[in-house]
Amino acid sequence: MPDDLWTDVDRYIDNVLVRPDRALQEALDSTRAAGLPAISVAPNQGKLLYILARATGARRILEIGTLAGYSTIWLARALPPGGFLLSLEAEPRHAEIARANLERAGLARVVEVRVGAAQATLPQLVAERADPFDLTFIDADKPGYPAYLRWALDLSRPGSLIIADNVVRDGKIIDAASRDSNVQAIREFNEVLAVEPRLTATVLQTVGVKGYDGLAIALVT
Ligand code: SAH
Ligand code: DHB
Ligand code: MG
Repeated sequence: MPDDLWTDVDRYIDNVLVRPDRALQEALDSTRAAGLPAISVAPNQGKLLYILARATGARRILEIGTLAGYSTIWLARALPPGGFLLSLEAEPRHAEIARANLERAGLARVVEVRVGAAQATLPQLVAERADPFDLTFIDADKPGYPAYLRWALDLSRPGSLIIADNVVRDGKIIDAASRDSNVQAIREFNEVLAVEPRLTATVLQTVGVKGYDGLAIALVT
């Protein structure tokens, strides 16, 4: 597989279409400086999230898996005045780094980073009868995906978008006999996308700086 070519083409796309940006760069720099994994969405993927949020006029966005807030910045910048983004993060240290990045990006008042395992914070939101979210981005631990999708649905309205990262995993996803719990969970996630009558969904394969993976995009009908 021509990984070097994918990477070079991603860099080309970023140079042409994704403007250099101080807050986003600082978020990536802080990720490296803190020794966090380099698993933020790629720049062109972040811009896709931004475009989808703007195109759908999202006013309330839910993110599951904050890390250093790189994708959070992209999504929050798409919000109109008065918009709100809630990002759920299990690791207090990640949340702290993300909050500093969001502050530097001028988004501290628009974004709340809530610490806790999404397995706990999502049902809490449902119990609180939170207003529906217009867009949900799922990007936390992969074994949690099937449950996150079900809660995201409960927190959505017809017309909401649910987007999920990492649903192809180097193509491992087609191995029904895989013993990898991440793969099995993503397969179950894709099954829920397929059979859930409240959703119409597709998956796009992606290549580039993050290797070979995919994004799921589902519309709540
Ligand atoms: N969306 C980010 C990357 C997220 S990486 C970006 O593109 O910039 C995945 C994050 O999910 C990590 O910070 C990890 O700590 C968090 N995470 C893992 N398990 C979790 C859980 N059960 N609940 C909430 N967050 C979790
Ligand atoms: C991993 C997680 C991600 O969200 C991602 O985009 C890439 C890799 C991982 O846990 O390996
Ligand atoms: Mg991811």
